[in-house]
Amino acid sequence: MKGLGLEGRVAVVTGGAGGIGAAICADLAGLGAHVVVADVERDAAAAVADGLGGTAAYVDLGDPDGIDAFTADVGPVDVLVHNAGISIVEPFTESDPAHWDLMWRINLRAPMQLTRALLPGMTARGWGRLVFVSSDGARAGSGGEGAYAATKAGLFGLAKTLAREAARGGVTSNVVCPGPTDTPMVRRVAERHPDLLDRLARQVPLRRIGTPDDVAGLVAFLCTGRAGYITGQTLSVSGGITMQ
Ligand SMILES: NC(=O)c1ccc[n+]([C@@H]2O[C@H](COP(=O)([O-])OP(=O)(O)OC[C@H]3O[C@@H](n4cnc5c(N)ncnc54)[C@H](O)[C@@H]3O)[C@@H](O)[C@H]2O)c1
Repeated sequence: MKGLGLEGRVAVVTGGAGGIGAAICADLAGLGAHVVVADVERDAAAAVADGLGGTAAYVDLGDPDGIDAFTADVGPVDVLVHNAGISIVEPFTESDPAHWDLMWRINLRAPMQLTRALLPGMTARGWGRLVFVSSDGARAGSGGEGAYAATKAGLFGLAKTLAREAARGGVTSNVVCPGPTDTPMVRRVAERHPDLLDRLARQVPLRRIGTPDDVAGLVAFLCTGRAGYITGQTLSVSGGITMQ
């Protein structure tokens, strides 16, 4: 298929050292982009970047000053994948407001701050790609993830607004919603609930949970020239859990 190459493009992937993030980095690098693996886990980010000929960059997305330092340093960016996220699972009526604040900062405020800093360069150059990794939990609800789902649902409104505001600058803005996906994030919860992965798989029409590659393929495609007429969309990669 023609039009898939990202040669000469610089792609920042937040949370690029994690399960889905590392797969996105690999696919973008495979399409020819220079990938900046932006993560709070220095060693893991360096390992991913080294394997791909990319660059590792430390950033704590919970720290607005740290985000400013990152954007001041990173140089021109063509592709910005907001993939980093955290989920603290607890019934909403017992949830800790300090956890709401942490998830708001990392899952929603950080994408806002990064985009505010890096989007003007994309529109000035007339080409760019924004991809927001949200969650099917925000589309369909997810027990124990009320605050998480609220932050992830905020990305829908942000991405659609940016799709309208940045379209004339040649920038697309889309949201990808993974369903349950086999990554360290899910494995951490499964340690406390040993039957979790089987239970989740039974709820999926395709009868398995996702892999990082399942999600990365769509994210990477949305970053290519071939996806230049797709903007303002919210797409699930969840084996059919959410159909709309
Ligand atoms: N795994 C799933 O089932 C699932 C489902 C729906 C949505 N998601 C979303 O997909 C994205 C990737 O999740 P994953 O499953 O690969 O998780 P993961 O825990 O494997 O990776 C998350 C990455 O984000 C990084 N990160 C966390 N806090 C950070 C911070 N303050 N600053 C910078 N980096 C930080 C982590 O170091 C890690 O590398 C997340 O946004 C998550 O909410 C995952």
